[in-house]
Amino acid sequence: MMWQIVCLISGQLLGFVNYIPPYATVTNQEISTGVNYGSGTAGIRDETGSHLGDRVSYDKQLLNHAKIISRLSLLQHNMTFTQEYLKKCVYISVIGNNDYINNYLMPNNYPTSRIYTIDQYAAVLVKQYSKQLTVSILTIFLCCIVYLKCYNTLYKLGARKIAVFSLGLIGCTPSEIAQFGTDGRPCVDSINDAVSRLNNRLKPLVDDLNNDLSDARFTFINLTSISTPPEGVTLPTEPCCQLRADGQCVPNSIPCPNRNLTIFYDGFHTTEIANTAFATRSYTALSPMDASPYDISHLAQL
Ligand SMILES: *[C@@H]1O[C@H](CO)[C@@H](O)[C@H](O)[C@H]1NC(C)=O
Repeated sequence: MMWQIVCLISGQLLGFVNYIPPYATVTNQEISTGVNYGSGTAGIRDETGSHLGDRVSYDKQLLNHAKIISRLSLLQHNMTFTQEYLKKCVYISVIGNNDYINNYLMPNNYPTSRIYTIDQYAAVLVKQYSKQLTVSILTIFLCCIVYLKCYNTLYKLGARKIAVFSLGLIGCTPSEIAQFGTDGRPCVDSINDAVSRLNNRLKPLVDDLNNDLSDARFTFINLTSISTPPEGVTLPTEPCCQLRADGQCVPNSIPCPNRNLTIFYDGFHTTEIANTAFATRSYTALSPMDASPYDISHLAQL
């Protein structure tokens, strides 16, 4: 969920005047400036978030991207131009938080925590994510068959500058703290431990992808690192609104007077000031831990 906002604020840093338009309503005129495929509660796994209703899973987002490429190439009338164009784009991929929040951590709604240990689950997620990041070429190929004529230079349609965000500190969200308790610690350590099993696999994945696909540049953005204040200025993790049991705000309740003073708006979602800090620091890294091997400003310039 959070990723859309991070993505948009990163978009502002890259010099866009408006927010990147959402896939559902993007017009032909707008396509060439970028498209936001994000979907609340969506995950790497197809079933993630299903108890909350409709959402666009990562696989479906990739299919939507393939449709956008088809539209773009029809508009631009020049395959070479479109291929060159897509190579210059920056692709920001932030997915996976819901595979814990709205899947693994909800044993009454999803069986994953009975099927997999935390380590196995992290491995299964990273395996699927790795396919989605790379074999999306295949998805695009299938989509071209379904929606349009096929091009024989499909590989060149693919992304070449991809920022892969780690998951956040889910164990520090007000909602998980309220649900699981912290035993006097600031956060739910067992959840952060589960999440770190996945994060610890993402950096090696990015390194492998950079080695295997030498004409592409992948980079790893470490949300744990960029959400740690550099000067020890820690904002409280109390939410800004009164929470319902599901972690969302009680409708029509009065929010906190100054949302610039909290990290969380509701039980899960960070405030604009926190999102701006994350986006700024993923754009220009403050520490070598924040982004590896490139921050987004360098990725854009490559
Ligand atoms: C297609 O785009 C390429 C790359 O920008 C350009 O060099 C070429 O002249 C274009 N072809 C046509 C027919 O406009």
